[in-house]
Amino acid sequence: MGQNRIKIDLLIHDLKVPLAVIEAGVTSMLNRREKYGALTDKQIKVLQRVLRNTKVTQNLVGDALELSRSRQGIMNLASVQICNLFEDELIEIFDLANSNISERIRGSQNLEGLKAVLQPEGLHLDIEDSLWGENFRLDEGKLKQILRNLLSNALKYRRSSVELRAFLEEGALFICVKDDGEGIPTAYHRKIFDCYFQLDPSDTCSVRGHGLGLAGVMILLEDMGGKMTLSSDEGQGAEFIVRIPIPGQ
Ligand SMILES: Nc1ncnc2c1ncn2[C@@H]1O[C@H](COP(=O)(O)OP(=O)(O)OP(=O)(O)O)[C@@H](O)[C@H]1O
Ligand SMILES: [Mg+2]
Repeated sequence: MGQNRIKIDLLIHDLKVPLAVIEAGVTSMLNRREKYGALTDKQIKVLQRVLRNTKVTQNLVGDALELSRSRQGIMNLASVQICNLFEDELIEIFDLANSNISERIRGSQNLEGLKAVLQPEGLHLDIEDSLWGENFRLDEGKLKQILRNLLSNALKYRRSSVELRAFLEEGALFICVKDDGEGIPTAYHRKIFDCYFQLDPSDTCSVRGHGLGLAGVMILLEDMGGKMTLSSDEGQGAEFIVRIPIPGQ
C-alpha cells in the first residue's frame, strides 16, 4: 500500500475517536436525566437525530476503512440474515431523507409490513419470503456498502420509482436495483465505473456526489468474486444487477 494511502487511512481512522466522544456525550444526555436534567420533547428529537447521524458517520468511517481493507483483499465473513441486511440499509438511507419512514421501517413486523411502508415511497421490494429469512456466510460490511450505493443512486436518479429485487440462482445471490430515471447512454456504460466520473457533475442532489460510489462497489465486488452488470438505455431508466457467489449453495 502506498504511503499516501496509509496517511489518508490513518486520518479516516482517527475520526473514530471524536465521533465516539460525540456519541457517548449525546447518549448520556438522553439516558442520564438525573445527571444532566430534564429535556423537552423537541430537545429529545434533535438529540436523537444527532445521535442517529453520528452513527451514520461512524458507519461511513468504517466503510471507508473497509474499502482500503478490500484493496488488500481482506474478507470479513460472518453469518448474515438477508432481512437484517436489507432492513438496516433501508433504515439508514431513509433516516437521512425522511426519518418518519425509517421509524416505520424499524417498526414493520415482517416482509409484507415492510413492503407496505416502502410502496408509497415508490420503492418496490421483490424478495421471496424464503430468501428473506435465510442466513448466508458473507461479508456484511461490504454487502451493505454495495446495497447503499446502488440504492442511493437509484433513489437519486429515478423519476418516480425504484425496484429492489433479490433472488438466489445457480449458487449465487442476485441483487437488482432498477429505476425509471433518465438512464445511461451506452457510450458511458464503462466510464461510469471509473473513479470521479459523473455524467452530470452539477448534480441536483442536496448532498453532492463525487463519482466514487460505483468505482467503490466494483472494488468490493471484485474481492467477493462477484460481478455487476448494467442494463440501461438513454431515457429508459437503469438496472444494476449484482451477482455474488455463495459458497456451499
Ligand atoms: N441509476 C442511475 N441512473 C442514471 N445515472 C446513474 C445512475 N447511477 C449512476 N449514474 C451515473 O454514474 C455516475 C457515477 O455514479 P457514482 O455512484 O459512482 O457517483 P455519484 O453518485 O455521482 O457520487 P457518489 O456516489 O460518489 O456520491 C453518476 O454521477 C451518474 O452520472
Ligand atoms: Mg453514487
